[in-house]
Amino acid sequence: MTEIRVAVLGASGWMGKVHTMAWATYPHFFAQAPRARVTALVTANPAAVPDLAARAPGARVLTDWQDAVNDPEIDLIDICLPDHLHFPVAKAALLAGKHVYCEKPLADTAAEARSLADLARAKGVISRVGHAFPRNPVHDLARDIIQSGEIGDIRLFKGCQHIDVFGDPSAPFMWRADGALAPTGIVGDTGTHVFSFMAFLVGPVSSLIAENMIVTPRRPQGTGWAEVTNPDATHLLCRFKNGASGVVDFSRVATGRKFRQTYEIYGTKGSLSYDYDQVNRLQFYTNADAEGRRGYRALDVGPEQATYGAFLPLPNLSLGYNETKIIEAYEVARAIQTGQSAWPDFDVGHHICQIVDAVMLSAAERRWVDVAGAEP
Ligand SMILES: NC(=O)c1ccc[n+]([C@@H]2O[C@H](COP(=O)([O-])OP(=O)(O)OC[C@H]3O[C@@H](n4cnc5c(N)ncnc54)[C@H](O)[C@@H]3O)[C@@H](O)[C@H]2O)c1
Repeated sequence: MTEIRVAVLGASGWMGKVHTMAWATYPHFFAQAPRARVTALVTANPAAVPDLAARAPGARVLTDWQDAVNDPEIDLIDICLPDHLHFPVAKAALLAGKHVYCEKPLADTAAEARSLADLARAKGVISRVGHAFPRNPVHDLARDIIQSGEIGDIRLFKGCQHIDVFGDPSAPFMWRADGALAPTGIVGDTGTHVFSFMAFLVGPVSSLIAENMIVTPRRPQGTGWAEVTNPDATHLLCRFKNGASGVVDFSRVATGRKFRQTYEIYGTKGSLSYDYDQVNRLQFYTNADAEGRRGYRALDVGPEQATYGAFLPLPNLSLGYNETKIIEAYEVARAIQTGQSAWPDFDVGHHICQIVDAVMLSAAERRWVDVAGAEP
């Protein structure tokens, strides 16, 4: 395949804008993948049509996602729609034989995600979930260190992600707080980012106990009020299949935290620590250092990691959020070229949805639950 024809669904939103940029941009940095051309943009917002036409010259602007899914001239359906549409749209696209790249969370339930992963396999198409944060090359460095055995067996994981968009109780209602449009709230929205780090760096989760909180039960909407019907914040403890244990928290109500994302991974020989405030830097501790000389050292990811080197020749020049999405688009294109889905495909998305299911069940029933057992 010399060119991948892409439809971006939800094109006028934040992710739609970023994905459209990433399709146009990755060939500048990654020459070894086939080029992609955005041939259709789908939006529910007619006011956005003139802007969209300028963003992807020559692309058709559609208002019904089914027109893109049914178009034989489109190879890849790129889903940047609100969460509740991920499953029906991905299913329709897979049934039509398209490759599918879907923003997170893959689906509202693990059962839905399982059926999408099975369908993608049966159709022999590429699947990909937009868990882009771990694709920052600094986390490839972390994974290399873990896989080389330098920190030994992982015993403890601590991870968090917080924002404050709903910290102020007077912040207006939006679809993200509506349980009909985003059934798992902060768990599917932000928890899945932490879960993606867990899947990438530590391994599958076997059991957990969680508490979900609606911190502000209603928010202003127009001249009235709307009920918040999904969680604002979550605390959880978990066990991984490899025996490690984890402590995780995430929220949209951490006043003052504009974007906080951290993890700490403790092993039997060393440890790693990451803070998004230093987006390309890892803190590494090893018992291999001489007694009296031990301490955390800062490792700045550099061009020795291939996806960093594709952008920049020196460490500490920094890649940010948009570059991880460019890497993601490149990896989707490369997967279509090679016929091999790359991490995180829909099987990974399914495990992350299993964790989400388990969090929702555990919080509702106030008990430890088995992650695989939470899926009906
Ligand atoms: N991976 C990440 O870091 C990340 C970051 C933000 C959002 N997301 C995910 O991306 C998805 C979109 O989030 P966003 O922040 O871009 O939302 P958004 O509200 O900015 O955009 C949603 C878009 O979908 C369109 N839309 C809604 N219903 C539609 C329909 N029926 N048909 C066609 N278009 C429709 C809207 O017009 C809008 O353009 C969500 O699932 C979210 O969880 C992922």
